Amino acid sequence: RTAAQRSRAFVVDGIPVVSKKHPIDARYRRSSVTSPYGLTRETQRGLARMIFAARAKGVRILVHSGYRGYAQQAQILASKIREYGSESLARRYNAAPGRSEHQTGLAVDLWDGVTWGVGVRNTKTGKWLWANAWRYGFILRYPNGKEKITGYAFEPWHYRYIGVADAKRFGANTNLTLEEYLGIA
Ligand code: DAL
Ligand code: ZN
Repeated sequence: RTAAQRSRAFVVDGIPVVSKKHPIDARYRRSSVTSPYGLTRETQRGLARMIFAARAKGVRILVHSGYRGYAQQAQILASKIREYGSESLARRYNAAPGRSEHQTGLAVDLWDGVTWGVGVRNTKTGKWLWANAWRYGFILRYPNGKEKITGYAFEPWHYRYIGVADAKRFGANTNLTLEEYLGIA
């Protein structure tokens, strides 16, 4: 895609794709904006339903990160490179500006408020999300062992809203990537 086209996301079968291969730029505008996380209206609605359903099962879901702007993403990557002391390691977990789904308001990082990092997978919250997020329109965006396809290491906390109809086709198959699903892997 040309630079001019980067003000909008690459869309496949109605689903916006933002990744290392399909960047957007600082001009990108979310389809809608909500409080308090800056998510799109549909994403926030799905999240609220999901949090409510989890709570009924005694599972706590907290938002670690919602919307992040282009400039903020640049700062995060720079600070992670300093923190890890390795640019290649930082890039396995942190998108460069324009390459992050967080800029679209369609992605959220979720946790239990206690355990952060890859350990999220073993928490009650991580396990519940893993099994149930699809019911609310969310998919685990960076499954384990799919780094070559997604461009990112396993992130058991990063959930992407794609809508209930598409997420239901993923079902509990948390190993499937959006790229494979859309046929662009
Ligand atoms: N952690 C994901 C890849 C991001 O920075 O958008
Ligand atoms: Zn994330």
